[in-house]
Amino acid sequence: MSYERWKQVDDYIDGLFVGPDEVLDETLRASDAARLPPIAVAPNQGKFLYLLAKLFGARSILEIGTLGAYSTIWLARALPPDGRLVTLEYEPAHADVARENIANAGLQEWVEIRVGDAHETLAQLAEEKAGPFDLVFIDADKESYPEYFAWSLDLSRVGTLIVADNVIRDGAVADPSSDDPRVTSVKRFNEIVAREPRVEATILQTVGVKGHDGFAVALVVG
Ligand code: SAH
Ligand code: DHB
Ligand code: MG
Repeated sequence: MSYERWKQVDDYIDGLFVGPDEVLDETLRASDAARLPPIAVAPNQGKFLYLLAKLFGARSILEIGTLGAYSTIWLARALPPDGRLVTLEYEPAHADVARENIANAGLQEWVEIRVGDAHETLAQLAEEKAGPFDLVFIDADKESYPEYFAWSLDLSRVGTLIVADNVIRDGAVADPSSDDPRVTSVKRFNEIVAREPRVEATILQTVGVKGHDGFAVALVVG
């Protein structure tokens, strides 16, 4: 199976289940125009996150890693009228693009962007007792995934769903010889999640326009 085939199939899925969407399409256009890296989740993955948020009846969502707010908009669209989403972004330039895209989506009342290093903004949220969140989406720097998981647990309750993007990395996580820190830290994250008695979890590997990667999903049970 080639990348071309994966892309064809993603286009097929998006044609059936996503379709043209002025707001989301403009979000990607504006992100490209501002030279943000093209690493937002794929459209069908965004729809998947949206469905998870709906399935969990999520009223409060925490996202770690905003970029241009593509995944943010998918998740925020799943919120009820009294819901809220907090998204954490290190790069002020990314946050500026995200803010514009969120406003263009009409979601500014529901979404708060916190600009800064997530290590600090997560500590702030804990300090403010901003949790528990119903759903947490981890998608920032891969080196920090183990720490982000610890904070996510702190900001959770029994029944919270923690989702993490990019936990397969072209399959490199299954290669014992990989010494790329983005791979070794994600492997450490996967092992921590697997051993953590407070969650039940698994990983779904994915292929498509974003290559070969995967989502970890962990349900907080204790
Ligand atoms: N969730 C987005 C993609 C996020 S890309 C989507 O799917 O649409 C990862 C983002 O995490 C980048 O914007 C990057 O600037 C941000 N990031 C990296 N390190 C960070 C840190 N320490 N704290 C907060 N954000 C960080
Ligand atoms: C990459 C992909 C992502 O989805 C992400 O969140 C960060 C980086 C990448 O392919 O480099
Ligand atoms: Mg990602």
